[in-house]
Amino acid sequence: METDELKGLRERALAQAAAAESLAALEQVRIAYLGRKGKIPALLKKLGQLPAEERREAGKVLNQLKRELAGLIEKRVGQLSSGEVRDEGRFDYTLPGAWRGLGTRHPVSRVIEEAVGIFRRLGFEVAEGPDVETEYYNFDALNTPEDHPSRDIQDTFYLESGGLLRTHTSPVQVRHMERHRPPVRIVAAGRCYRRDVPDATHSTNFHQIEGLYVNKRVSMSELKSDLAFFARELMGRKVQVRFRPHFFPFTEPSVEVDFSCHACGGKGCRLCKRSGWIEIAGAGMVDPSVLEAVDYDPEEYTGYAFGMGIERIAMIMFGINDIRLFYENDRRFLEQFGW
Ligand code: PHE
Repeated sequence: METDELKGLRERALAQAAAAESLAALEQVRIAYLGRKGKIPALLKKLGQLPAEERREAGKVLNQLKRELAGLIEKRVGQLSSGEVRDEGRFDYTLPGAWRGLGTRHPVSRVIEEAVGIFRRLGFEVAEGPDVETEYYNFDALNTPEDHPSRDIQDTFYLESGGLLRTHTSPVQVRHMERHRPPVRIVAAGRCYRRDVPDATHSTNFHQIEGLYVNKRVSMSELKSDLAFFARELMGRKVQVRFRPHFFPFTEPSVEVDFSCHACGGKGCRLCKRSGWIEIAGAGMVDPSVLEAVDYDPEEYTGYAFGMGIERIAMIMFGINDIRLFYENDRRFLEQFGW
């Protein structure tokens, strides 16, 4: 074995280990020189054929190289795995990362969350009910028997199973009162369905948030002050609230609730159809027949209830002029209102 040959081997081995820029490349160097079929073990095997003098000298050099190379590889493994040396040639780590396109909250979800948050601060609990309802909960228990004309304006989709898609969130009132004794103070938000012809303000599918408060001596002034608080929290201090007489089978007296128009401050504009007011909710004092249907004594308890259209509120808050935009899943639209 020539000394020059061994010197050349040593230089190449150490240079390759120092130049390896990845753990995989380093492993290749290790296998080539130190592996079972590597260059150094092969030479060590040949030592036996050498004369004693030469064998000792070559053996010393080879074993030293073995330790030196193993030590260098170990050091480089440490550097490469701690990122001390970066593979700058192939990977530019200063480039911006890949944008994964995270979504935003849907404007309907956003309004629901804000509205529920405000009512929770007023001591309301959150309740829920199913989208597929029975005629009993959607109509009968709410004082709307089969031949009542109110059923006509809330026509819906009837299922072959006998159920129907709820036309409002009011059935949650009944379901909750059946299982709880007064006082009850709940809000329930969710999807509703009606057999309406879609246009800029109508959709067969929309959302409501229902409120119900039953206790001893609940009065209409509490309904008004709670809704006024809600309006101001949601829209700012300047918003006004007005009640207009109305009719619902399940409240008596009944009102429709308007907020002063957010866009024009009540002066009158296109959004509020020049009236300065926008209809937001139906509400009223819970009809005694509804309390009786859930075994509450109407002599002992009174309550108020309201139901608000979520899309309505979102349209005013964000200046959206067509309800159908909510359901088209166009991210260019949706991303403007979420967070
Ligand atoms: N459920 C009624 C509707 O959808 C709104 C309402 C709720 C009215 C509660 C009074 C009390 O039109």
